[in-house]
Amino acid sequence: MICNTRDSWGGPAKFLHWSVALLVLAQLGLGWAAVSWRLSPLKLDLFVWHKSTGLLIFGLMVVRAAWRLANPPPALPDAMPAWEKRAAHVGHLLLYAILIAMPLSGWIANSAANIPFRIFWRIPLPPIAAPDKAVADLAARVHLILFLGLSALLSLHIAAALRHHLVRRNGILTRMLPFGRRG
Ligand code: HEM
Ligand code: HEM
Repeated sequence: MICNTRDSWGGPAKFLHWSVALLVLAQLGLGWAAVSWRLSPLKLDLFVWHKSTGLLIFGLMVVRAAWRLANPPPALPDAMPAWEKRAAHVGHLLLYAILIAMPLSGWIANSAANIPFRIFWRIPLPPIAAPDKAVADLAARVHLILFLGLSALLSLHIAAALRHHLVRRNGILTRMLPFGRRG
């Protein structure tokens, strides 16, 4: 099934959800490793991996946002209280916003710090901000604050998915699984 239906996610939405989820989890580890590693060639490599993976996530999120706008999501169960439905919508919207804003803030930090960079050592990344130390510092700070927000949101998101599955026993989790049955 390509498109989302009233009660299940289509293949492209599932693929984008799980590929971005895996990349984001790896990306959080790469970000911390790159920042904390002692100055060495490996540290520079970790940054290339981090920035390249971040830009890959950015590309996937742009495609995902377009796909999401073109494809209405499956409806949430009628039994779900209105405040929970609203919380789910706001949470998902914030996840989209942060996963687009994080790569952009990283890109701005990299541009303003005037660091030449090639995606996966190959494709040169054009700067999107003029060299300016104050801008680079601010963008790095925004990047860190967004990371804290993302960590909190993801914890809630995963807890909510598990609660739907284990406590409520509805089909919310299974309808997002790659070969899951419909909810
Ligand atoms: C880095 C990790 C993750 C990110 C960034 C993420 C992000 C998102 C977003 C943005 C949506 C909304 C989909 C849309 O409206 O297009 C969503 C839906 C969903 N996510 Fe995640 N997710 C992650 C990990 C997980 C994990 C680990 C689970 C399971 C334990 C999970 C379970 C779900 C489920 C079940 C839905 C569908 C909710 C529904 O049918 O209304 N997610 N996720
Ligand atoms: C969804 C995408 C991304 C996530 C989740 C992410 C996450 C992180 C994390 C957890 C850190 C370590 C904590 C911190 O100092 O902020 C970090 C640092 C950093 N990231 Fe990212 N990042 C993403 C995309 C990018 C991109 C696309 C770039 C550049 C093109 C980038 C450049 C940087 C830089 C330069 C730092 C070090 C900041 C500093 O000096 O404090 N990031 N990132």
